[in-house]
Amino acid sequence: MKVLVTYVSRTGNTKKVAEAIFKEIKGTKEMKDLEQVGGLEGYDLAFVGFPIEAYGPAKPAAAFLEKHATGRNIALFITHAAPEGDDRIKEWLESCKGAAAGAKLVAVFDCQGELSEQIADFMLKSGDEQLAAWAKERSTTMGQPDATRLKRAAAWAKEVLKSCR
Ligand SMILES: Cc1cc2nc3c(=O)[nH]c(=O)nc-3n(C[C@H](O)[C@H](O)[C@H](O)COP(=O)(O)O)c2cc1C
Repeated sequence: MKVLVTYVSRTGNTKKVAEAIFKEIKGTKEMKDLEQVGGLEGYDLAFVGFPIEAYGPAKPAAAFLEKHATGRNIALFITHAAPEGDDRIKEWLESCKGAAAGAKLVAVFDCQGELSEQIADFMLKSGDEQLAAWAKERSTTMGQPDATRLKRAAAWAKEVLKSCR
């Protein structure tokens, strides 16, 4: 089985999760920035990761999934600044799944990622009240994804790999 791990990661959070997943793969595997992936031909399974940006999947990831995921085995991993379990996240995850609507969606993982100082500044100045409110909660996101979350991502990947064997 040939497995790809690919990701969009502006500030490194999703990349950390990608690395934790990649370590769990025992057979033939590749890890690439999404920009370097021209398509999914030849892969039996692709882990595709990206951050939530403006209440939905980061745009390059959504465009990639819409173009290349149809008929493919896909597992999504997603990071966001909001705490896990927050009601708002369900809706965002649905829109991520929507971008992969044509795929054989194997599983979805999500966890919190630190909101960078630069992005928090941008959110504060955006004029969007909700974004500004989150920027003020930045301190609650510091250090994420932490070791516990990366361990959870690795365990999730292990299960996904087992189910695709
Ligand atoms: C332009 C932009 C918009 C964002 N919008 C949201 C959002 O709607 N909800 C949220 O929880 N986090 C939001 N975030 C925070 C990121 O999802 C979070 O920090 C993520 O872990 C970043 O991952 P990365 O380091 O892999 O880019 C946003 C970040 C950026 C840059």
